Amino acid sequence: MSQASSTRIAPSILSADFARLGEEVRNVIAAGADWVHCDVMDNHFVPNLTFGPMVCAALRPHTTAPIDVHLMVEPVDALIPEFAKAGANYISFHPEASRHVDRTLSLIRDHGCKAGLVFNPATPLDWMDHVMDKLDLVLLMSVNPGFGGQAFIPSALDKLRQARARIDAWTAQGGQPILLQIDGGVKVDNIGAIRAAGADTFVAGSAIFGQPDYAQVISDMRAQIAQAEQA
Ligand code: DX5
Ligand code: ZN
Repeated sequence: MSQASSTRIAPSILSADFARLGEEVRNVIAAGADWVHCDVMDNHFVPNLTFGPMVCAALRPHTTAPIDVHLMVEPVDALIPEFAKAGANYISFHPEASRHVDRTLSLIRDHGCKAGLVFNPATPLDWMDHVMDKLDLVLLMSVNPGFGGQAFIPSALDKLRQARARIDAWTAQGGQPILLQIDGGVKVDNIGAIRAAGADTFVAGSAIFGQPDYAQVISDMRAQIAQAEQA
C-alpha cells in the first residue's frame, strides 16, 4: 500500500452548534482534530446556504490549526481572495463551478493558499489530468454535496483507489505531494476501509459533532486508521 504516511482528521463545522462556533472549533481541536473543515454553500451550486468569508475570519483567532475551506459555490473566483484574507489555509472548489479550472487553481496559490479540486460522486477523475502540478489536495465526495448526515456512497472506495494510484504515479515521477481527502458519511465504522482505499485526510461532520465526547470519537477514528494501516 503506497500512501501518504501521515493522516489528518478534519471535522466539518457544518454539524457544529452555529451559535457557539468559536468554542466548537476550540473544543474540537483540543479534542485532537488536525484541521477545521468549513463547508461554504451558496444555495445555487448546492441546495443549502451556510456562511462566507466573514465567519471564516471570525473563527481564525480561535485556532492555529489549518482552516480547510470547501467551496460549494458558483462562480468561484471572486471568493478566493476573500477567503485567503480571512485566513484560509486550504481552498477547494468543484470543477463544474469554475469556467477555467486551471486559472482558479493558480488564483488560490497566488493568494498564498493550498489548492484543492473536489470531485462529486459522478464527476470523473479525468479533471485532474492536466492540472496535477497545480494541486495540493484532491477531495473526493462520498455523498452528494449540500448536507451533513448523509450515508457514505460505497463506490467512493473504488474511486479512492483510482485517485490514490494517479497521485502515487505523479509523486513517483517527481511531482509534488498531493493530499487525498474524503468527505461525506465518514464514521468510526467505515474509516478503516476508507484509509485502506487510500485516503489520508478525513472530513467528518455529524460523526464527531453529533457525539458528546469529541475526543473519544477522534481517538476511535485514529485507532481504526492505525488498524487499517497494519493490515
Ligand atoms: C457536504 C459537506 C460535508 C459534510 C460532511 O456537502 O461537504 O463536509 O459536512 O458531513 P457528514 O460527515 O455528516 O457526512
Ligand atoms: Zn465538505
